Formats: sequence, structure tokens, C-alpha cells
Amino acid sequence: MEMPKLTIGNVTARLPIVQGGMAVKISLSPLAAAVAQAGGIGVIAGSGLEPEELANELRAARAQTDGVIAVNIMVAVSAFKELVHVAIREGADLIIAGAGFSRDVFTWCREADIPMVPIVGSERVAQLSERFGASAVIVEGVEAGGHLGTDEPMETLLPRIINSVNIPVIGAGGVVTGDDIKRVLDAGAAGVQMGTRFAATKESSAPEAFKQMYVDAKDEDIVLIQSPVGLPGRALANPFTRLLDSGERQRIERCVTCLKKCGKDFCIMDKLIRAQEGDVEGGLVFSGAAATRIHDIPSVSDLMERLVSEWQLASGGASA
Ligand SMILES: Cc1cc2nc3c(=O)[nH]c(=O)nc-3n(C[C@H](O)[C@H](O)[C@H](O)COP(=O)(O)O)c2cc1C
Repeated sequence: MEMPKLTIGNVTARLPIVQGGMAVKISLSPLAAAVAQAGGIGVIAGSGLEPEELANELRAARAQTDGVIAVNIMVAVSAFKELVHVAIREGADLIIAGAGFSRDVFTWCREADIPMVPIVGSERVAQLSERFGASAVIVEGVEAGGHLGTDEPMETLLPRIINSVNIPVIGAGGVVTGDDIKRVLDAGAAGVQMGTRFAATKESSAPEAFKQMYVDAKDEDIVLIQSPVGLPGRALANPFTRLLDSGERQRIERCVTCLKKCGKDFCIMDKLIRAQEGDVEGGLVFSGAAATRIHDIPSVSDLMERLVSEWQLASGGASA
């Protein structure tokens, strides 16, 4: 038995698996190209990159695969418009926008004939997105890693959103196995988006200590922080999150106005970059709640094969 394909606008992936965009510099060309090459949708996270860096990542991914490569950019970043235009110019197959809502991006994508896929957390925003021309929506439940737009689990949010729009709906949050994929597809989703599971792969650009934190994570390590973006964020507990909990004021050393609106509680860009550079105690390690079910750091091709076999077994078919 074959997994269903995923079609979004004029783009089709062989497998209904989208690798979540992960900033800063966690999902770059090595991860996105490996996922695309294995049949899924590989996503380069544009937030926090210089426009030229994003262009180089897209070119590097293209040089490695003919598969589907998307770019994810957070609406909340100041460079949103510039980064979307670079992604369009460099031939991204899809644009995915999270952490905020932008009307303009629908126009830019329509003019470029590129499918636009917003990340939504409510029926209202899903319907609004469809009206503005979204080719699909990604529904992120509260279990997801990174910034959260809802306090509702994907299990209850997903069916309501599927019933409220007529475009493909992709479920995200807590998906780490083929059984999880089956559950989400059975609920009526056209595909899944998986973040944390792909952050803990060989091709992810997270440092080894960051990946190992997922493997070691226990229930009590999964925490929520309040991000200066104005949204809660799900992360792994470390000395930095404990400092935030203590309420101690964080000094912002060098503000480069990376966000359109910033709560200034701490510098999110600095903390995400620190973690990506290996300081997993002083930086911020975003993580989904399902990190507790991740026990290894496989290559993307091994992981994708495993996900397909698990899905086939769960679906009553023979393992590949
Ligand atoms: C380390 C990390 C960084 C993330 N960065 C982004 C981001 O830049 N933009 C975005 O829209 N979502 C981001 N996310 C969310 C993922 O794209 C994905 O939707 C989410 O991780 C799904 O939940 P899961 O981790 O349970 O699979 C991030 C998640 C993680 C774990």
C-alpha cells in the first residue's frame, strides 16, 4: 500500500510529509534537500537569515534535489517582505508563513504563481486564508514546537478546520511516527508537518548537544515560555528557561530590530542563535511535546523509510 501523495496548488510531493521550517538555522539546505529527495516537502527556515544567505541555501538545496523545496518565514520578522521576495526570485516551490498573518504575501505569491500556505490556529484564520487565496493551510496544535498560535490540541482543532475550508489541511504538532501520521491522515488531513522529529536527524543543522537534548527529554523537560514575539513558545527546559521563570530581567545586548513588534523581555534571535551555535544552556531550544518519544538521531532517508513502513503496518499493509 502506498502513502497518498500531497498536492498543494501546482506542486505535488510523493509523500504527505512536510518537514517543518525551523529557525534560526536548524532547517537549512542539508535537511530540506534530504527530505525533498526522500519524497517529502523540505522546508528552509528563512527567519533570521540575511537575504543573501537565504538565496544561497535555496541554490544549495536545488543543486542537491529536484524534489519540492519550500521556504518558511515568520510574518513577525522585520525582513519578512524582503525574505519572501528572495524566496520567490530564487524559485522556492511554496511559501509557508507562520507567527502572524499577512494579507500582502497572498498577493506576492499569486503574482509569482507560487502556492502560499499559512500556518493557522483557528477556523476564522483558516477561512480568511482561503478567501485570500491560500493553496493549503497548516494547522498547528498546542503540542507543537516553537511559537504557538493556539492552546488547543491538534486532535480537536484539526477536524474543525478541515470542516471549515475546501483546501488541503496539513496537521502539525506531536507527529513523530508512522502511526501518528496515520492518525492525522485518518482524521481527514492531506498531510502532516513534523518539526522536532526532523530537528533530531543527521542532516539537521542543530548542533549535536541540541539533538541529544531531544533524545534525553523527559515529560518535565517540556516547558512553555513567553516569547517577545507576543506568543507562547514550546521549548526544552534549561538554565535559560529557568532564568525566565525566575522573572529576572534579561539585558538585551545588541538590538537589531529583527521583529516588527518586540516585547523586549529578551532577545529571541540572540537566544535561538546561541542554541544553534551549541550553547544549549544559555540559548533557547524549541521543541514539541513529543520529544519524549524521540530516541535516536537517524539520517533523513532512514527516518522516511521508517515512517512509511510504520504507516504501512498501521494501515494493515505489508511493511516496505
Ligand atoms: C527548533 C524549532 C524551530 C522552529 N522554528 C519555526 C519557524 O521558524 N517558523 C515556523 O513557522 N515554525 C517553526 N517551528 C515549528 C515547526 O515548523 C513545526 O510546525 C512544529 O515543530 C510541529 O510540531 P512538532 O515539533 O511536534 O512536530 C519550529 C519548531 C522547532 C522544534
